[in-house]
Amino acid sequence: MIISILSPKGGCGKSTSALTLASVFAKNPDLSIAIVDADPRQSIARVWLGKRSEEGLGVPPFAVIPDPSDSSILDTLEDAGSGYDLVFVDLEGVAGLMASYAASASDLCLVPMRPSALDGDAAGAALKMIRDAGKAARRTIPARILLTQTDAAIMTKSYRELIDELDTAGIARLRTELMRRAPFERVMAEGKTLFELDQSRSVASAVINTVQLGQELSDILEAE
Ligand SMILES: Nc1ncnc2c1ncn2[C@@H]1O[C@H](COP(=O)(O)OP(=O)(O)OP(=O)(O)O)[C@@H](O)[C@H]1O
Ligand SMILES: [Mg+2]
Repeated sequence: MIISILSPKGGCGKSTSALTLASVFAKNPDLSIAIVDADPRQSIARVWLGKRSEEGLGVPPFAVIPDPSDSSILDTLEDAGSGYDLVFVDLEGVAGLMASYAASASDLCLVPMRPSALDGDAAGAALKMIRDAGKAARRTIPARILLTQTDAAIMTKSYRELIDELDTAGIARLRTELMRRAPFERVMAEGKTLFELDQSRSVASAVINTVQLGQELSDILEAE
């Protein structure tokens, strides 16, 4: 199964979500997991893996396949889809051919979105692009919004209004959000998976959040 994580908004949490989801599914020894890094900046294949090798952390519990080229991405995704049980595709924060190709090859698209008007606008554009990619492929590509970097402690009025807006517009979203928590930031900064971070209360909370997200995603994949 191929799950693309996309939004034209930079910094909304695509790479962090890809790393987090790949590492929680990699906990299941019956599953083989890969991330395809399709971002020309290669945040995972170059930056994250580079940090890992600097720190001598060894191979990650999932494969990382770099392919920042839109002329080969469809072949890469086809190979990855047959070679691994679950493939997460990390994309650049722009709307372009690469994102459309990835969406068209996906079983599910996740659109990360921070609770802000600008992210909401970008998420709307991403959902439209996914619909169009589906039309070109003559199928409906399932898509869900994933709220990211939400505040674990305070539910602001603007956040509540945003949720109401999404729900009223019938926009499908994951019930589990990727909360704003320091450990999620450390994953990218330290080249570790969430499960490799030194144990602390905040890491334990981030792990609970991640396990819940993984559970919701597997339920969706089973139903699709
Ligand atoms: N849930 C979170 N809690 C705390 N920090 C986060 C969280 N998600 C992302 N971040 C931090 O926010 C920044 C942007 O996240 P990330 O790189 O995942 O976004 P992106 O959508 O992949 O960006 P780009 O479009 O540039 O590829 C990073 O510094 C990351 O560590
Ligand atoms: Mg990224």
